[in-house]
Amino acid sequence: MSGGMDRHQALADLAGRVADCRGCGLAEGRTNVVVSSGPESARVAVVGEAPGREEDLAGRPFVGRSGRLLDQLLDDTGGLGRNEVYVVNMVKCRPPDNRAPKADELAACRPFLDEQLALVHPRVVVTLGNVATRAMLDTKEGITSLRGRSHADPGGAPWPIVPTFHPSAGLRNGARVTGPMREDLARAAELAEATR
Ligand code: URA
Repeated sequence: MSGGMDRHQALADLAGRVADCRGCGLAEGRTNVVVSSGPESARVAVVGEAPGREEDLAGRPFVGRSGRLLDQLLDDTGGLGRNEVYVVNMVKCRPPDNRAPKADELAACRPFLDEQLALVHPRVVVTLGNVATRAMLDTKEGITSLRGRSHADPGGAPWPIVPTFHPSAGLRNGARVTGPMREDLARAAELAEATR
């Protein structure tokens, strides 16, 4: 994609298609689709799992408790404030009772995410938690063994993938998880600088 306006229009077009999407059963239960937040020219994209209750009501990703922790961790990472990152989820509609998205739901929604990343073209993609990390790295391995380093995109995209824990795990476990998350986010910020 060349100009910012082309990108802006393409992302606006995508948002319209997401709003009309009935590609899986999650469409039934949604209040709002949750497409993305943050600058379309961001150097870092952060990929979460799925909207929760507050995100479904607001139509914006990571606005609940997990989001507040994510904001804090990002703001503590030099050069990577929440307002600097493009935030998106694996699925755009809230799963009932906050269950994890199912394989068919992830598959139905994946083309939107791929299109978003291709348009934003970040320098680094951070994946939060097992669901996003396994999907993006195309593996069954767990986040604990995958985090702590960057990985090549298995589909051949140019951006490295930096997996870290989901902020909900940080809320449950405190510094044992938020400490490593800070390290991972600092790694992402460094990589985004290095690949200028
Ligand atoms: N958890 C996620 O994975 N995404 C959100 O947008 C909110 C909570």
